[in-house]
Amino acid sequence: MKIEAEKWKAEIERDLAAAADEIALQQVKARYLGRKGVLTSLLKEMGGLSPNERPLLGQVINELKQGMEEGFSRRLAEIKRQKELEELEAEGIDITLPGRWRAMGRSHPVTQVLEEVVDIFTSLGFQVADGPEVELDYYNFEALNIPKDHPARDMQDTFYISEEVVLRTHTSPVQVRTMEHQRPPVRIICPGKVYRCDADISHTPMFHQVEGLLVDRGVTFADLKGTLEAFVHLMFGRDTRLRFRPSFFPFTEPSAEVDIECVICSGEGCRVCSYGGWLEILGAGMVDPAVYAFVHYDPEEFTGFAFGLGIERIAMLKYGINDIRLFFENDLRFLEQF
Ligand code: FA5
Repeated sequence: MKIEAEKWKAEIERDLAAAADEIALQQVKARYLGRKGVLTSLLKEMGGLSPNERPLLGQVINELKQGMEEGFSRRLAEIKRQKELEELEAEGIDITLPGRWRAMGRSHPVTQVLEEVVDIFTSLGFQVADGPEVELDYYNFEALNIPKDHPARDMQDTFYISEEVVLRTHTSPVQVRTMEHQRPPVRIICPGKVYRCDADISHTPMFHQVEGLLVDRGVTFADLKGTLEAFVHLMFGRDTRLRFRPSFFPFTEPSAEVDIECVICSGEGCRVCSYGGWLEILGAGMVDPAVYAFVHYDPEEFTGFAFGLGIERIAMLKYGINDIRLFFENDLRFLEQF
């Protein structure tokens, strides 16, 4: 009986292997397991056997059946796979070729920092506003209390499109555009690109700023200080010290520039902070009543503060970069580090 079983087993394997497609495979299955199949007939023969022999034959047939089922599934998978390969080959696709490598992109470090700054201010309750990069002289200068002959224009030498149209030198024009269309309370930030005729180790002709403007009743310089302090602590850590230095902007009064303790040398003095221990990150101040006149706000009723920070400077401090031009050279060895 054992020898017989081996013979059937080999025959089953041979027939399964010979089936070239699914239909042929089903026929093999029917030949063994169908109603008149070989194994079914064998089972019927059991009646003629002695009670001793019956269980033995039953076991052999069961094993053959199981082997048949397993072999059938295996061969079916093989046939399907073969069919898929043939189809792909017919389509001219060679799946044995190595895949095409795609470099994974990521945000530019300046974009990453810009988004971080925006996240911090939106978490403090500011809304994001937008304005054009090609701007009217009126919004970039005039309505910010910088008339045509004002010396402050020299500090922000720009690219002129025509006499009245410029590439904006800062994001401050968005202050005016926002106030023209909205009554207080105003609580906005405006991230974006700005342009100046500037180029050295810490200045580029295109850079990014985030403007902030808050106007409401009873807003004071203390609110400005508190807001900027919260920002610096969230951005650089709670232990980072900041200081306000008196400054001048025609559109804020009083005005200040804000420095943070050099994060590279912790205030000891190094090349990045020109050995002063402090680094300027932004300009700020209380909105000048002269600006309110352009947007018809009553300075007796409303007060507010504004600030404008340079994103590349913040990114330099955050990552300890000592040359701003690295951001724009598109050198992957630099960019891949962020
Ligand atoms: C201004 O642009 C004002 N609009 C800021 C402001 C807004 C003051 C609201 C008051 C109220 P300033 O020219 O200092 O100010 O520029 C602000 C920041 O931009 C600087 O602190 C510096 O971080 C960055 N910055 C200025 N010029 C460049 C440049 N060429 N390249 C890179 N960053 C620059």
